[in-house]
Amino acid sequence: MSNKPQLPPGPKEFKFRQGLKMGLSIYDYLQQCADEFGDAFTLNLPGMDPMVWVSRPDMVKGFFSLKPDQIDQSKLAIPIDIGDNQTGFLNNEEHAHSRKVVIPTLVSKRLQDRAQVMHEIVTKHIDAMKPGDEFDVPRLVGDITLDIACYTLLGLRDGPKKDLYRDLMLQWIQASTNNTMFLLGTMYGPSKWRNRLHSAYLKKTAKGDFGSGKKGLMPWSHSIELKAQLADLMRKDIREARKNPNSDRTDLLYTVSHAHYEDGELLSEERVIAESMGMLVGGHETSAATSAWYMLWLLKRPDVYKKMHDTVLQAIKEEGRFDPLKITEVPYLNACLSESQRLTPSAVGTMRCLVKEAKIGPLTLPPNTNVLAAAYLTHRRKDVWGEDALEFRPERWLEGKLPSPFEYYPFGGGRRACVGSNQAKQQLRIIFAEFARRVEFDSPYAHTEEWPGQQQVSGQTEPQGGVPVTVTKVRPASYGIQEASLQAAS
Ligand code: HEM
Repeated sequence: MSNKPQLPPGPKEFKFRQGLKMGLSIYDYLQQCADEFGDAFTLNLPGMDPMVWVSRPDMVKGFFSLKPDQIDQSKLAIPIDIGDNQTGFLNNEEHAHSRKVVIPTLVSKRLQDRAQVMHEIVTKHIDAMKPGDEFDVPRLVGDITLDIACYTLLGLRDGPKKDLYRDLMLQWIQASTNNTMFLLGTMYGPSKWRNRLHSAYLKKTAKGDFGSGKKGLMPWSHSIELKAQLADLMRKDIREARKNPNSDRTDLLYTVSHAHYEDGELLSEERVIAESMGMLVGGHETSAATSAWYMLWLLKRPDVYKKMHDTVLQAIKEEGRFDPLKITEVPYLNACLSESQRLTPSAVGTMRCLVKEAKIGPLTLPPNTNVLAAAYLTHRRKDVWGEDALEFRPERWLEGKLPSPFEYYPFGGGRRACVGSNQAKQQLRIIFAEFARRVEFDSPYAHTEEWPGQQQVSGQTEPQGGVPVTVTKVRPASYGIQEASLQAAS
């Protein structure tokens, strides 16, 4: 391969058409391109630098080894105004510092302490279900994880303040990620769009206008209004937190309110707001989308759901109770989630925006290129996963050989790997363990070979039209536990 920088080949269709195919069926489109062009190909979208997608593990390794000065993540293609100074958009030392600030709020000791509360929140949601209730799985799980986010981000479990935050957060996410906003952002250019919304928000709040929450004439006004309101609520809480430096609160807003820049200054209020909103957005649709695909696999594979049920009961028998932390360590349950994230990762790819020429495996790419490691494609390669690569087979995770970080990366990798991966896995493991133990679902998808198309929500890939389910059975919270504790006592 030549050392002269060049873009790999790709489809010759108009940019708009490529954008449309990405929006409507990204999994299928990427697979078609990989079949036609191989391990690396270039796509072109309106308002964006060329996108080079790579999937071969040696190229993925080169991708995750890119140096901080080779990339500029402020150009990241996310069309939501989280704030320009949030981890995902920062570069170099600022980025490293930002991770140092947020990671302590997500380390395993903190997560262990939160497992019990996560379980209580999940229990409350399941207790409220009854046979005949209909849900769309991503929205159901989104509701549960939003309650968890109120606790982990803000330290709030119940009460009017939690309800106010919860409502505003949900409304803001919906107003910022609906189809119109996604289309406008994609056509305008995602990073330019995000910066435009951010300037409008800053202009508004500089005038002391903290939003009415009302819809305006323009399709984007509502998102700006709601962000201004949410940010104002957070700003008041940051000030309150700073007046109380000795609280035993461990939530992100409180912890980051007391974090400093390298020179000892407290982080600016806008920075704390951006980090908090970033964590909210980073964790919300990602978990909802991941759970939608996961449930779809389980509806198609009742044998796996049944085995999960039996495995949870077995774990309870061994512990004498439902231990939310222990449940997150049960190999079969974790294998099921990993297998779902392998075949249907909600983040199809992970992006770096090159500002310098860079070598990615055998490729030499020019500056002003967006390069993406295509998790969806790597996770389905037969040369990595074997002849049964396309089969949903959780047992493969229990057979001794685990994949390298360049063969399996649903949470990205390298210096910019997802900071919330452990929290995300912990909450999804608890939610699905409890679903398997206590709830039976039916769905049109359980009775057909049909597989849905894909849609983009907040940069995540979800089953088109969601995953509709009807609850057919809800077992009591004590199910399987009373017997186990009696056995343990005898
Ligand atoms: C199933 C759920 C989740 C999935 C699939 C997911 C996926 C990802 C991916 C693919 C990246 C890009 C990594 C890279 O560029 O190499 C990322 C980054 C990030 N995620 Fe997640 N994520 C999830 C949950 C969460 C949660 C719960 C949080 C917060 C508590 C979070 C916060 C972040 C942040 C702040 C970044 C930017 C990291 C950086 O640039 O240094 N994510 N995530």
